[in-house]
Amino acid sequence: MYSQYDESIKTKVDINACKILANSWPKRVAVKNNNLDSSTYYDISIPDYPIELVPFKEDERFISLDESVKKKILAAAWISYNEKTMDIEATVTGPACSSLLSGKFRGFDIADLKRLLVQTQVDENFHFMMCLDACLLTRKMHELEALKLPRSLVTLSLLDNLKNQNDDRKRDLLQIAYAAVAEVTVNAYLDLLADHQGIQPFNRETTRWHRVDETTHRDVYKNFVIAMYSYLDIDEKRFFHQALGMGLDAFVKIDYDAWLTILSHLGISDAEAIINSCIQRSKGRRILRDYRGFLELLSQLGVTPSEVDFCFSEDV
Ligand SMILES: [Fe+2]
Ligand SMILES: [Fe+2]
Repeated sequence: MYSQYDESIKTKVDINACKILANSWPKRVAVKNNNLDSSTYYDISIPDYPIELVPFKEDERFISLDESVKKKILAAAWISYNEKTMDIEATVTGPACSSLLSGKFRGFDIADLKRLLVQTQVDENFHFMMCLDACLLTRKMHELEALKLPRSLVTLSLLDNLKNQNDDRKRDLLQIAYAAVAEVTVNAYLDLLADHQGIQPFNRETTRWHRVDETTHRDVYKNFVIAMYSYLDIDEKRFFHQALGMGLDAFVKIDYDAWLTILSHLGISDAEAIINSCIQRSKGRRILRDYRGFLELLSQLGVTPSEVDFCFSEDV
């Protein structure tokens, strides 16, 4: 099947692992096979989202709010987390899979890679549906139907970079780089939510199922990137490194706009002051991500971390 590819691609892409993953998909795909029943949800005494993930949790103005208002803030934060995920599935990862499937990049005339690409797209659509259900339920339970959140910083950053890029090839590389960051660096939030015993069990289960699929996507996406990268010319490789840096930067930014929207929507009088002092206090603070898989991918590509313009240390 891949006779037209040079030997280096055959050894770099883990063809056997791709075949095993593609063949196991019908049983493996977690979100499709889960039995979550939203009708057994809801215990009003349990928060939707961990309070320790609120960036202004130590602000006296937040601490002094009524418990019922705090619960609404946490419910809105859970909605925001899910809508951000949906935005990324639809705008970042889905289109990247389409681009790799479109034949624009060499390296994908391998049957099992094509099957994995389509399976990954299907997984992301299931995740989209699951996140939407979670949002709708929480919106209804907390009367948050009118809450309108801004688009995620990650998608805004990608769309902005795409808008400023006229070269179609580079636009595709940007799309794939952002998706690679999304899929290969694990969001520590997903782990925190999936294992958290203090939030709605439905929310915990939802993220636990999502994590099962995303753990596989991490390995799958590494093979996608290796297959594509091996055929890029030197300029394209250089641009891809830059695009990875842009993606990494976008993914670790805390979305203060979303938090401000939540507080303003709930009529918190000090909303702007709370967010402003939070920004002042937490200059340089980032959303935690696990870079181990990403650094491993760079080494498989023969790229040193210094070729990607990003600080991988958490001490920034
Ligand atoms: Fe996903
Ligand atoms: Fe994914």
